[in-house]
Amino acid sequence: MNNFAFLATRREYRAFSKDCIDAEAAFQNSYDSCVKLVRTAVDAAIKWVYTTEKKLSGMSDDLFALISNPPFEQLIGKSLAKKLHYCRKLGNSAIHNEKEFSAVEAQNCLKNLFEFVQWIDKRYGKNFEPRTFSSPLDDDELLQTELLGMKLSTPIFAASGTFGFGEEFENFVDLKRLGGVMVKCITLNPRRGNDGVRITETPSGMLNCIGLENPGVETFLTEILPRIKDKMNVIVNVSGSSIDDYGELARLLDVDGVAAIELNISCPNVKDGGIIFGTDETQAAKVTSAAKSATSKPVIVKLSPNVTDITKIARACESAGADCLSLINTLMGMEINVHTWRPTLGNITGGLSGGAIKPVAVRMVWQTAQAVKIPIIGMGGIRSAEDAAEFFLAGASAVAIGTANFLEPSITMKIADDLINYVRGCGLKNIRELVGKAMRNS
Ligand SMILES: Cc1cc2nc3c(=O)[nH]c(=O)nc-3n(C[C@H](O)[C@H](O)[C@H](O)COP(=O)(O)O)c2cc1C
Repeated sequence: MNNFAFLATRREYRAFSKDCIDAEAAFQNSYDSCVKLVRTAVDAAIKWVYTTEKKLSGMSDDLFALISNPPFEQLIGKSLAKKLHYCRKLGNSAIHNEKEFSAVEAQNCLKNLFEFVQWIDKRYGKNFEPRTFSSPLDDDELLQTELLGMKLSTPIFAASGTFGFGEEFENFVDLKRLGGVMVKCITLNPRRGNDGVRITETPSGMLNCIGLENPGVETFLTEILPRIKDKMNVIVNVSGSSIDDYGELARLLDVDGVAAIELNISCPNVKDGGIIFGTDETQAAKVTSAAKSATSKPVIVKLSPNVTDITKIARACESAGADCLSLINTLMGMEINVHTWRPTLGNITGGLSGGAIKPVAVRMVWQTAQAVKIPIIGMGGIRSAEDAAEFFLAGASAVAIGTANFLEPSITMKIADDLINYVRGCGLKNIRELVGKAMRNS
């Protein structure tokens, strides 16, 4: 490593220890030497990935000493700091224990360093000229799969209502690496949603009553879809208040750029006594046929967990022609403010999502997988690769991440990276080999 850079860094390291503001100033002043250090680390990591040299000796301890400094950590943010610590851990073991690491680990390391480079560029507006990195090893191969006639880079989707129209997440997520984005639900006419408090945090998740706020199908088709259609697989989640609404929405959305239509059937049929479509087999089947007969796109029916026997609804939708099922939507819940003695949410009740509902979701995916032959996209409380693996084992062919996106906008990418390690660790060649493999206790 370059001695000059080494000395400069030691000096900065002391400056960084004052406080965060000093840290930023010092970083700005020492931009060139920091860049040299990052470059050295990146070069070493590239060498590590592309050659047989299994050491990260060029990844300097000093770079990581600098990163570990608490004010600096504060400056770059916890999430990025964590990623750089991962590189440091690998580098240290490589140097001191001569340990060999998997190609996935080396590539993760490189990805993290590039993210740091991007952070520097964004923050200081200078051009570091990061190299583009195309993986010769293509570890995403382990996650590549097919669903509904689509070739998916990963079987990881973003769940409707938690990911906007996808474009809001462009800076955090490689959208093409997702199986697709289930965009916020679309209705025939624009809706302003519910008044009052719409979201409240619960011990392990959240309650929401957004009230299907959306710009309506026309604005979606003319303004939003043209903007997002080349950036991701767009799955349009639709809601209606009559069976005809679903048919009409499916017809209007049968256009280029829409990969599939997802029917949100957790809504009341206003024209038929307010019964929730998703809690009644006949209604669920009618909605499914109405959409199927109006579109050439694959139709995914999103099941509600607020039922006694989900398999009955699942079978009814399959018989009516559904191409795929997604589950679960939120569980009906409520919170009361003990100081005002009133419900917290403007709408009184809301949908519970997040960690708390995962066991319910896994149980329902398991039951549904035994009942139908069509593929299932599992969701509900997934926050990690291990959570996702549970859904695959229960019988899901893909998963969707919802509430966790609010906590960490890049969580889908982390789950993809960690799933690669999980699949490899299981000795499998592709994640498909996991689907439905949970065994019964003997
Ligand atoms: C704020 C919020 C808005 C949602 N909006 C929709 C929606 O418009 N359509 C829909 O089908 N599901 C909607 N959902 C349900 C999620 O897509 C998902 O099914 C559910 O939250 C369970 O997954 P999770 O625990 O990972 O969030 C919404 C969930 C949340 C938290």
